[in-house]
Amino acid sequence: MLEDFLSIHDLSPYQFSKILDFIQQIKDKPWRFRNKLKNKILAMIFQKSSLRTRVTFEVGMLQLGGEAIYLSPSDIQLGTRETPYDVGKNLERWVDGIIIRTFSHQIAVDLAQVCHIPVINGLTDLLHPCQAMADFFTLKEKLRGPANLKLAYIGDGNNVCHSLIFAAAKAGSKMRVATPPGYEPNPEILKQAEQDGRETGFSFYITNDPYEAVQEADAVYTDVWASMGQEQEKEKRTKIFAPYQVNRALMTKAKKDALFMHCLPAHRGEEVTDEVIDSAQSVVFDQAENRLPFQKAIMLSLLEKKAKNG
Ligand code: CP
Ligand code: NVA
Repeated sequence: MLEDFLSIHDLSPYQFSKILDFIQQIKDKPWRFRNKLKNKILAMIFQKSSLRTRVTFEVGMLQLGGEAIYLSPSDIQLGTRETPYDVGKNLERWVDGIIIRTFSHQIAVDLAQVCHIPVINGLTDLLHPCQAMADFFTLKEKLRGPANLKLAYIGDGNNVCHSLIFAAAKAGSKMRVATPPGYEPNPEILKQAEQDGRETGFSFYITNDPYEAVQEADAVYTDVWASMGQEQEKEKRTKIFAPYQVNRALMTKAKKDALFMHCLPAHRGEEVTDEVIDSAQSVVFDQAENRLPFQKAIMLSLLEKKAKNG
């Protein structure tokens, strides 16, 4: 039974596919779930900026009949004013669940360990699982389904890339990643994904050549070159990542009508050109739309039941 949602690695392939089905049910008939979280309260700890994650968790909670409390970096000053341990031990006395967006992934893990209420990872430096779940639902909606699908990820081997790799492993997708040398995904994540994907048909390939990665791809995904917390590296990264821009020339090497994907926010003219992100192949706003039914699916799965160890 799922108690927290910190990583897609923690789901079985069966749970992964059941959640995708659940998103579909919620998206098709949202009114059915209108009061399912009545009187439940979600605390939202954000140590980094957010549009999509914050709004979709807050709107999701309201539409399910509950309430959400936004805690900005200056409100609680996690780790400075108070330790994550003490913050968790306070919050669990008042609220029914926590979503946390923070820097070190260990903070989210520690919080989940100390709290008797469910903790959801709203992005860490290592992972962005809510994003990848919505993305794989989008792939399922738009294409024949994620199994055997060829997904190319171009750019930084970052949090979004890591969660997409875990999702691909659970779904049995074929994934190719092209990064500049030195910016490859974390080897530990690759090792875990390989184990996860042993029986699903998952395959994985890393290259430094974006043209090689997009060959025959059903979908081409990219993300910003400098993530939140890496702002001081922006200038250096802009030069290193320039050959990894997703532009028309690169898209034409993928399958005809391949989808273009991006978690957003996008830096237009950097990792993607206007021409590609605004093209008919782009599904970036569908991905954003699908964040809402996924957040509802995960909150319903975790918060409808009793507290952890309760
Ligand atoms: N994609 C995503 O998580 O967007 P935000 O950073 O705006 O939440
Ligand atoms: N990799 C980006 C994703 C933002 C949703 C970041 O961490 O800033």
